[in-house]
Amino acid sequence: MAKDIIETPSRALSEFELHQFILLPGYKTNEMTSDKTDLSAPLTKFRNGEQPKIKLNFALLSAAMQSVTSDRMAISMAQEGGLGVIFCSQPINEQANMVKDVKRRRAGFVIPHTVLPETLISEVIDFADERSYSTFPVVNENGKLVGYITKNDFDRKRHAHLKVGDRMLPIERISVAYDDEINDDLIAAYEKLVESHHGSLPIITRDGKLKHIVFKKDIDHHLDNPMAVLDAEKRYVVGAAINTSDYKQRVPALTEAGVDVLFIDTSQGHTDYVKEALQFVKKEFPDVPVVGGNVVTKEGFDFLAENGADAVKIGMGPGSICITQEQIGVGRGQGTSIIEVAKARNEYYEKTGVYIPIIADGGIRVAKDITVAWALGADVVMAGKYFAGCDETPTKTRTMAKIVDGKSIEVREKSYWGEGSDKAKEWMAAGRYGQNDFPEGVEAWVAYSGALKNHLAQAKAMIKDGMRKAGCSSIAELHEKSVLQVLSAGSITEGGVHDVTLHN
Ligand code: IMP
Repeated sequence: MAKDIIETPSRALSEFELHQFILLPGYKTNEMTSDKTDLSAPLTKFRNGEQPKIKLNFALLSAAMQSVTSDRMAISMAQEGGLGVIFCSQPINEQANMVKDVKRRRAGFVIPHTVLPETLISEVIDFADERSYSTFPVVNENGKLVGYITKNDFDRKRHAHLKVGDRMLPIERISVAYDDEINDDLIAAYEKLVESHHGSLPIITRDGKLKHIVFKKDIDHHLDNPMAVLDAEKRYVVGAAINTSDYKQRVPALTEAGVDVLFIDTSQGHTDYVKEALQFVKKEFPDVPVVGGNVVTKEGFDFLAENGADAVKIGMGPGSICITQEQIGVGRGQGTSIIEVAKARNEYYEKTGVYIPIIADGGIRVAKDITVAWALGADVVMAGKYFAGCDETPTKTRTMAKIVDGKSIEVREKSYWGEGSDKAKEWMAAGRYGQNDFPEGVEAWVAYSGALKNHLAQAKAMIKDGMRKAGCSSIAELHEKSVLQVLSAGSITEGGVHDVTLHN
């Protein structure tokens, strides 16, 4: 017989069948307005009375998955107050380049990719296609700005064999600003940019060296995003996943690229492999916070805490594309996992005075699941599917005719696949990483959900309203004051639309 058999069923986070959670209403005062509802939380550990190294303004992470978080998603997540974790199922240099691309942006000021006058236009086309960039400053071998080339300056077929110098706009014909007149002031850059009548403005030193470019759309974005999470140099904060196989090579490349926080990406974090990876990062790169995971038990939390984890990630099996539980029979309902690990975090805090944030990873279907995950005890939530339909993911969109209620309608979808799926494993040479030879994830489609900004604007509104109706103005208050109740099957039915025929 097993050492222990828990006969109380473990509970999922969302209403899949029975027994999930709902917040009870609490006392809501007139002062509890939307703008005073605080969605911030610590991401990394801190001692009582001190500040965490990284704090999020919206306690939400986009998952470290090929189909979710590349540099574009990471930038948008940081602009929204959260954080993107760039996937590690790709060659080390490619992941490091994605990190660099996020760190190139300093709250509106971009350190651009430059080209030389001798660069072939065919190379510019390849690079522009690969990265979706359209504007390249041209510098000489001393870093002096000599011109500008954009996609409008050449014809892909006729000019591919020419050099950049043959087609660029020379410096005399472009507007520039000097760094000592802008002084890192985004508003000053904005004014100058608007007066230039162009979409971007290079900023140079008095001796002509290129420092930054500002793009109108980036400045608009920045001014629109007061919640953005920035580092000490006002660059967007970014995370990157690492695996337990090649971390000795991957971590140095990622830290060199400027990564702010590392995430050990395994479905079973209570292992010697994860302990060794944690100890390596702590010893070799003590200034870089590292998140351990995933675990679903108190023992798992204590193990990672004792081995130096700066935060602990929870979840084994709740992912929408995950078949781990079906395949190997190991895992736990995500609601129960959060409750158990939150208790362990609180006990550890009482014992040591060190607060180690916990991250609920997977199982988020809709916005209110985020509120419930926080209330159950999570500090931060990580999601994949919830973001997979957004414009910012690196995946394709398809439009399909589908029959719904007897009518043919056009449906837009984006592809989404698990990191343990056969598709995700295609990037590596067979067997090199000692991966399982059976899949733990599937490939799927999700509904297209448009720009992240709009997707999250609606989510924020619903989450804040839910928090206030539960009598809470912050995640810390959800932890202290909220009351949750388990739903019966009948109350789930009663809480949804019932006994009516919907208009089509
Ligand atoms: P979702 O938000 O429910 O879609 O879950 C996303 C989470 O599922 C990720 O952050 C991972 O922890 C986990 N995950 C990603 N790929 C796989 C897989 O192939 N098998 C099992 N779990 C996965």
